Amino acid sequence: MPRVTLALVGAGLRGQSYARRAQSTGAGQVVAVAEPDPARRAAAAREFGIPPDRAFAGWAELAAEGRLADAAIIATQDRQHTGPTVRLADLGYHVLLEKPMATDEGEAAVIAEAAERNKTMLAVCHVLRYTPYTKALKSLLDEGRIGRLVSVEHLEPVGWWHQAHSFVRGNWRRSDTSAPMLLTKSCHDIDWLVYLFGRSPERVSSFGSLTHFRPEAAPPGAGERCLDCSVENSCPYSAKRLYLDCLGDPDREFWPLSAVTRDHTEQGVLRALRTGPYGRCVYACDNDVVDHQVVTMEFDDGATCSFTMSAFTPMEHRHTRLLGTHGFLDGDGVTLRLVDFRTGAEELLDTRTTAGASAADGHGGGDEALMDAFLRAVGSQDPALLKSDAAASLASHRVVWAAERARTSGTVVRLSPAV
Ligand SMILES: NC(=O)c1ccc[n+]([C@@H]2O[C@H](COP(=O)([O-])OP(=O)(O)OC[C@H]3O[C@@H](n4cnc5c(N)ncnc54)[C@H](O)[C@@H]3O)[C@@H](O)[C@H]2O)c1
Repeated sequence: MPRVTLALVGAGLRGQSYARRAQSTGAGQVVAVAEPDPARRAAAAREFGIPPDRAFAGWAELAAEGRLADAAIIATQDRQHTGPTVRLADLGYHVLLEKPMATDEGEAAVIAEAAERNKTMLAVCHVLRYTPYTKALKSLLDEGRIGRLVSVEHLEPVGWWHQAHSFVRGNWRRSDTSAPMLLTKSCHDIDWLVYLFGRSPERVSSFGSLTHFRPEAAPPGAGERCLDCSVENSCPYSAKRLYLDCLGDPDREFWPLSAVTRDHTEQGVLRALRTGPYGRCVYACDNDVVDHQVVTMEFDDGATCSFTMSAFTPMEHRHTRLLGTHGFLDGDGVTLRLVDFRTGAEELLDTRTTAGASAADGHGGGDEALMDAFLRAVGSQDPALLKSDAAASLASHRVVWAAERARTSGTVVRLSPAV
């Protein structure tokens, strides 16, 4: 199969990971980059061998040149997905788009419509659909091994330090500059649950709030920054401990440390913590997104699902229990325990998941498998190799928005039958 040519739009942490995977497997070649940050742009051009006349200061400049590649990786920040996706789809690019599709329902619909209008492939980066663990679990369900699925209990353990990094101090801490956390974090989980059930729910409800990372929860003696704090040593959210401990570990230096500073020395980290957002006390930030949330869903046949997202966990794989009419499945992201009600027999299935749950680990193998599937789909012009299309992603995002409406209005929301 010929190499798929790629334009990288947003050479940040996610964009770099996908581009690296594409280039390293030989299935893709990054031939153009659009990135306003000159250092990131130059680094991407150097790493992928992109000539100077194919390195642009932004997606609009790239688009002004017409179509330069088979496909685009769009890995800009959440509020900058719609413009480049619609414009590049109109130019005929196939698109790998980071989640969330968009930060509001109207824009997500515009994106789906652009993909449909242009007959281009649009793969939203719901990496959980692509892990070996999900593949094994979905096969068991589709084979009817637990009968009809009646209830699901699913936990997303965000992890205490990950919450502090991304959702208290970092890019996804505020709804008005990013989006509600159910969209920015848990759209993965809602999409995954919809995928397992094979359809969207009919009704949703949700509760959740920001209970802990608020000024009134600060311990006596807390400073505005961890470097000036008299109780830093006993605080679980110490930025000093979190980021200095990353030094020397290449995976953790890439994530989360690269978001904090490019200078991966002790002095460089301390300088960033002295002046930058990641050195702030978790009780003295301008965050407003939730730190825990539950969503309950009811499906057309009466099946139910409860989903819990929480900051107050170790950072590890999701845990899921699936309760069927003929069997029970209990999964921890690596192993699945199946109990068959016909025989009472228990089976332990190792899904051969070696990668950890975090972004640094490639989300349990999902990042790489998604990139590989996208390149195969584009290279062979076969959208069936993708686990979701634009319409499926729009449908699962709509469940997220319905759940957010339920949480903020204190109501049960019924999804329209079209979803
Ligand atoms: N799939 C996942 O599991 C997952 C995990 C983390 C983040 N994300 C999502 O990935 C996206 C990117 O996250 P990130 O951590 O890589 O962010 P990042 O800030 O590191 O990268 C975004 C890049 O876009 C660049 N950019 C800004 N304006 C641009 C323009 N006009 N044209 C081209 N580039 C432009 C920025 O300079 C930056 O380098 C976000 O939407 C985020 O929510 C997905």
